[in-house]
Amino acid sequence: MTPIEVEMTASELYRRLLTYVKPYWAVFVGAIIAMAIFAATETGLAAMMKPLLDGSFVERDPETIKWLPIALIGLFLIRGVASFFTAYGLGWIARNIIKNLRTEMFEKLVSLPATFYDKSTSGQLMSKLLYDVEQVANAATDAILTVIRDSLTILGLLLWMIYLNGMLSLIILTTVPVIGYLVYRISTRFRKISKNIQDSMGDVGHICSEIIDGHREVKTFGSQTYENHRFEVVNQKNRRQRMKKIATEATTQPLLQLIAVLGLSSVIYLATLPSMLDQITVGSFISFVTAMFMVLTPLKRLTKVNAKLQAGIAASQSVFTLLDQEPEQDNGTKTIERARGDIEYRHIHFHYQQSDKPVINDVSFHAKPGQTIAFVGHSGSGKTTLVSLLSRFYPLTQGEILLDGININELTLSNLRQHIALVNQQVVLFNDTVANNIAYGHAEHISNDRIIAAAKAAHAWDFIEQLPQGLSTQVGQNGVLLSGGQRQRIAIARALLSDAPILVLDEATASLDTEAERHIQAALETLMKQRTTLVIAHRLSTIEKADQIIVMHQGEIVETGTHETLLEKGDHYAQLHRLQFQEK
Ligand SMILES: Nc1ncnc2c1ncn2[C@@H]1O[C@H](COP(=O)(O)OP(=O)(O)OP(=O)(O)O)[C@@H](O)[C@H]1O
Ligand SMILES: [Mg+2]
Repeated sequence: MTPIEVEMTASELYRRLLTYVKPYWAVFVGAIIAMAIFAATETGLAAMMKPLLDGSFVERDPETIKWLPIALIGLFLIRGVASFFTAYGLGWIARNIIKNLRTEMFEKLVSLPATFYDKSTSGQLMSKLLYDVEQVANAATDAILTVIRDSLTILGLLLWMIYLNGMLSLIILTTVPVIGYLVYRISTRFRKISKNIQDSMGDVGHICSEIIDGHREVKTFGSQTYENHRFEVVNQKNRRQRMKKIATEATTQPLLQLIAVLGLSSVIYLATLPSMLDQITVGSFISFVTAMFMVLTPLKRLTKVNAKLQAGIAASQSVFTLLDQEPEQDNGTKTIERARGDIEYRHIHFHYQQSDKPVINDVSFHAKPGQTIAFVGHSGSGKTTLVSLLSRFYPLTQGEILLDGININELTLSNLRQHIALVNQQVVLFNDTVANNIAYGHAEHISNDRIIAAAKAAHAWDFIEQLPQGLSTQVGQNGVLLSGGQRQRIAIARALLSDAPILVLDEATASLDTEAERHIQAALETLMKQRTTLVIAHRLSTIEKADQIIVMHQGEIVETGTHETLLEKGDHYAQLHRLQFQEK
């Protein structure tokens, strides 16, 4: 479920959709003209029945016999060309709209705050981008094709019928309000079902992406049956919603046709009454009935298109809801050329949106340029949260953070973040080459020499050299082709290359063998040189060298000091130290 569901009325959605068609209005008008021509040829076909029967067969007029076949070929030629331009024009518009919407959605996704991602699943977001967008475009164009072309066809045929015989047409027309009412009722239902179908598609995608990302967990925990069952539930729900739609569609058509045939039967009955037979020629009658039959097909499509249209409306609701999400707050105006790296937290309070429980409670500290501040504490004590506030991933509840004496809220987001190199607890690598992963985030081209230098400093060069294609080796999705320690060193090389004055380091807790540990430690020391470092430390050596150690407990600072002073004190830190590091 998306965080903020904005209810939009159908007409609002239509109007908004139309703004996407607007840039292509010229092509759109062209397509409508082609549709009108197509509709005219349909009426032309019914109209031709009259001279065909009256002229050719009844009166045996030589002129009519000569030009009729030629006219028929001409008519189909025009019809074919019109049909091509309609389909091509509308298809072109549809694909452009899809592309534009996807671009807009993607740009939105990139700009959305962390709070949005906390509440959404990737499967649901993917389903919007892949599935819902297509539906929207189908509504905007495919459906319009049927609505306009078929309405015009029906109109043309009706006019021809009225011209032939007003009274008979009147009888046909009485069925129109009945059909209209039915269509209206059915459309409301379609819209509801379509929304459910989209939601269940999102669920299908969501569970799929989870087992794809977590395939190892699924295997180790033997949860195949559980996952199969979980998937079965959403898959079944999806099928049920689909069936509802099919059932609605399936009842609609016969029902409407039955109404139409009632009209038709009355016409046949009336037209064959003796008084009528005098007024109407064979040609006129056949032409009338032909027109009437020809009305049925577009009429049927017209009722069917409604399903598409309603699906499109429900999908556009889903798409626009995403597009209407608030991007990350960025009200800052100031910029710092290159930060010295003086960081001050002043009475910081913070809680996540989901609950009022404070995660950070009145935390203050001051890191002078070049210093290393280490954070230690039990799992869940708020260490990751605390350092992520510096990058403004979440807005503070209370208090302020200063960078070089400037409140970080006054800086532009991009300027603030450009001073911070982040090595996360969970290293994220992109499905790209080693080189591109190290140079990630640099708009300009980075020479291989610089990448190699960073890799060497990060103690990553030794293993990179041994990879099959060296720097050009693809690392696989999220770096699956590398080991945990190798991934970390790539992340460190990335941070080194970014050369930011501030380093935020959330050490991974995963234990590494001594060899890898030694390498990473050395890499980290290079990285921390001449940088202000906020490090969530698990490694003894990192902590020992820190200028200040902050011990956190349930969102509060319970102790600060250096390794020696805290050990001497013999309280929280000493206890943690005993527990965590005794075996090392
Ligand atoms: N995105 C989030 N949304 C809501 N609550 C969160 C979120 N991230 C963390 N929390 C909660 O905030 C608290 C602090 O989490 P945090 O990740 O900061 O702990 P930590 O000290 O880094 O733990 P660890 O040492 O295990 O990494 C936890 O109780 C956690 O449940
Ligand atoms: Mg953490």
